[in-house]
Amino acid sequence: MSESEKDKMVKIYILGEGFDVPAGSTIVTAMEYAGFQLTTGVGCREGFCGACATLYREKGDYKLQAGLACQTVVSDGMYIAQIPFVPAEKPIYDITKLTPDIDSIKTLYPTVFRCVSCNTCTKACPQDIEVMDYVQALIKGDIAKAADLSFDCIRCGLCALRCPSEIVQYNAGILARRLTGRYLLKKSPDLEPRVKEIAERKFDKELEKLMRTDKEKIKKLYYEREIKLG
Ligand code: SF4
Ligand code: SF4
Ligand code: FES
Repeated sequence: MSESEKDKMVKIYILGEGFDVPAGSTIVTAMEYAGFQLTTGVGCREGFCGACATLYREKGDYKLQAGLACQTVVSDGMYIAQIPFVPAEKPIYDITKLTPDIDSIKTLYPTVFRCVSCNTCTKACPQDIEVMDYVQALIKGDIAKAADLSFDCIRCGLCALRCPSEIVQYNAGILARRLTGRYLLKKSPDLEPRVKEIAERKFDKELEKLMRTDKEKIKKLYYEREIKLG
C-alpha cells in the first residue's frame, strides 16, 4: 500500500482484532471491507430499519457510545462491538379490549413508571427523538402526546439498551401509536375504500412495476408525487 493510500485508511478494532479500513466508511461498510459477511444486524443501510445497533468506543475516550452502524462513520482507533439484538419485553394484547389511557400503560408496560428522568435514552436516540418526554407522557397517560413524540422511532433499541431502569421505551411507544390510531384520531374517509382496494389486489401491477424501477427514479416519483391535504 502506498503512503498516500495509507493516509486514507484508519485502524479500527472489531471484537478486539485490528483492521485497516478506508477513512470515511460507515461501520457497516468498514466491516465488510474487513471481510465480515453481515447476514444479521443490518437491513436497509439507510438509517430506517433500526437493525444495526452497535456499541463503540473512540480512541482516548472511556465512554461507551451507541449508534447505527450504517450511519456512524469510523474513526482511527475505534473499538466496535456489534450487538445481535436488544431483548425487549413485548406483551401480547388485543387492541380492541384496551382503552387509550393510563390503565393500558399500567397493565402492559408498568416498567415505564420506573423512569428516573436521567435522559440517557434521549441522548442515545439516533432519530433525535425526545424519548424521555414520550416516556413521561406515557406516565401521565397522555397517549396522543406519546404517540406524536415517538412517531419517528425506527425501533433500533438503543434507548432501551442504555436505560438504567430497563424500560422498553420503543415498544411502549408502539402501543401509544396503536391506541391513538384506533381510538383518538379522526377517521379518514379514504381509509376503508383504500384497504378494500388493496385487499382486492388493485395495485399489484403498479407495485410490480415499482419493484423493477431503479432507486433514483423511485426517489424522483416520491418527491414529485401529488399530496392531498385535509
Ligand atoms: S426511540 Fe429508541 S428505539 Fe426508537 S429510534 Fe430512538 S433509540 Fe431507537
Ligand atoms: S433512560 Fe430510562 S430512566 Fe432514563 S429517562 Fe430514559 S426511560 Fe427514563
Ligand atoms: S441497516 Fe437499517 S438502520 Fe442501519
